[in-house]
Amino acid sequence: MAAHDVSPATPCSIVIFGATGDLAARKLVPALHALRRNGWLHPDTAVIGFGRSDLDDEAFRERLAEALAEHLPDGPDDAWRALRPRVRYVRGGYDEAAAYERLAEALREAGHGDHVYYTATPPQAYAPIVRGLADTGLGDEHQGFRRLVIEKPFGEDLESARALNAFVLERFRETQVYRIDHYLAKETAQNLAVLRFANTIFEPIWSNRAIDHVQITMAEPLGMEGRGSFYDDAGVLRDVFQNHMLQLLALVAMEPPARYDADAVRDEKVKLLRALRCAEAGHAVLGQYTAGRGQPGYLDEPGVAPDSRTPTYAAARFAIDNWRWAGVPFYVRAGKRLEEKASEIVLTFRHPPHVPFDLPAAPRPDRLVLRLVPDEGISLRFNAKHPGQGIELDRVGLDFAYQGRYRRPNPDAYETLIQDVVEGDATLFMRADEVEMQWRVVAPLLRAAASRRPVPYAAGSMGPVDAAELLARDGRTWYRPGWS
Ligand code: BG6
Repeated sequence: MAAHDVSPATPCSIVIFGATGDLAARKLVPALHALRRNGWLHPDTAVIGFGRSDLDDEAFRERLAEALAEHLPDGPDDAWRALRPRVRYVRGGYDEAAAYERLAEALREAGHGDHVYYTATPPQAYAPIVRGLADTGLGDEHQGFRRLVIEKPFGEDLESARALNAFVLERFRETQVYRIDHYLAKETAQNLAVLRFANTIFEPIWSNRAIDHVQITMAEPLGMEGRGSFYDDAGVLRDVFQNHMLQLLALVAMEPPARYDADAVRDEKVKLLRALRCAEAGHAVLGQYTAGRGQPGYLDEPGVAPDSRTPTYAAARFAIDNWRWAGVPFYVRAGKRLEEKASEIVLTFRHPPHVPFDLPAAPRPDRLVLRLVPDEGISLRFNAKHPGQGIELDRVGLDFAYQGRYRRPNPDAYETLIQDVVEGDATLFMRADEVEMQWRVVAPLLRAAASRRPVPYAAGSMGPVDAAELLARDGRTWYRPGWS
């Protein structure tokens, strides 16, 4: 199979499996539309929806128009009018051989040599889709590229991820496979590499010599939003810990890659993940929300088993066994139905070795805060002298906020990722060994979740009390968004 020479100027066909589902409506279709509107997608790009619902092309187009309505308050725009006739629908089951023949026919009619296949389906459908495509010859790259985008969660533990990787890689080459983690495409996540490796001031202090500890938080006020039955199988560990949280940790802690490309960056992340260890189960807290602030408890959510032990919150301490990070704890927490929406990384620096001033209390440690959601930006918090006689400390900051600095809002992560797939750049996607390594790292947490009941926390709070104790034991506290 010869690899195809790619250019973003080449039109391709993008097939969305699970085309009538939630991910397609909320993320993929708006992203395709935005790419088309901004001129980053070739005008002839075709979109083929594949799904089980009984629709024809026109009814599917109507659905997409409805999904887009939220993003286009003034009604259909030129980009949608141009894309609309290039949208088709193929009805079929993921296991149905004849449906893949119909898909192949639709692809022939679209007339493009290059294809992207996107699995926006429940995870159980990934293997049948891969088989269906391969058995119909749709993975064959003789006439153009054939790229397969696989959503998360990729497997449900190390063993199943290995089996899925083996199944996929018997049918597609690794370079054809794009395993999604949309957190990697958030601007602040991408900025981590630039901050660290395109400046000289950060890297010399980026280690146990200057850093006391690191915190990574993903707090969400939302509950299940109709995803109860998926979530009840996944829980916080499979939904975001194994992927988003560990990817952010790897970006903070990896060694500098020689080049910023898919192989070099992923080699460094894998090396880091090999050295990463989840502290013993005693250093992990698993929680489940109960009713609070007028919001339902997890067990009352539609699709959730009435006696479910699925954790909706996790906090854990990780250690990295290498020279750079030995002795620096990485505290990671994520949860649903928390007080506010905040995804951020906070590096707290060591106290100065000697303070020559007479102060009522020790100076607060310096902090570097990287904010991914909302209000993306980077902020350095440090102590300065308050103007006037004598030495009195003031807490000040150097702030970089995307909003205000740039006129355009940041592209949605899915825009970046779809464009990268079309351009053949896998830097922001997970490689087979990386996904497996991440499952290895969270295995102790999965075992803990299987063997004990999660502790309750009230919806609308900042999580279980035990999570505060996890840090208190180490003489530390969680950083509260907005703190200095
Ligand atoms: C997804 C999870 O990957 O990320 C969801 O499956 C979560 O449960 C979502 O709500 C959060 O993404 P963002 O970009 O809104 O922080």
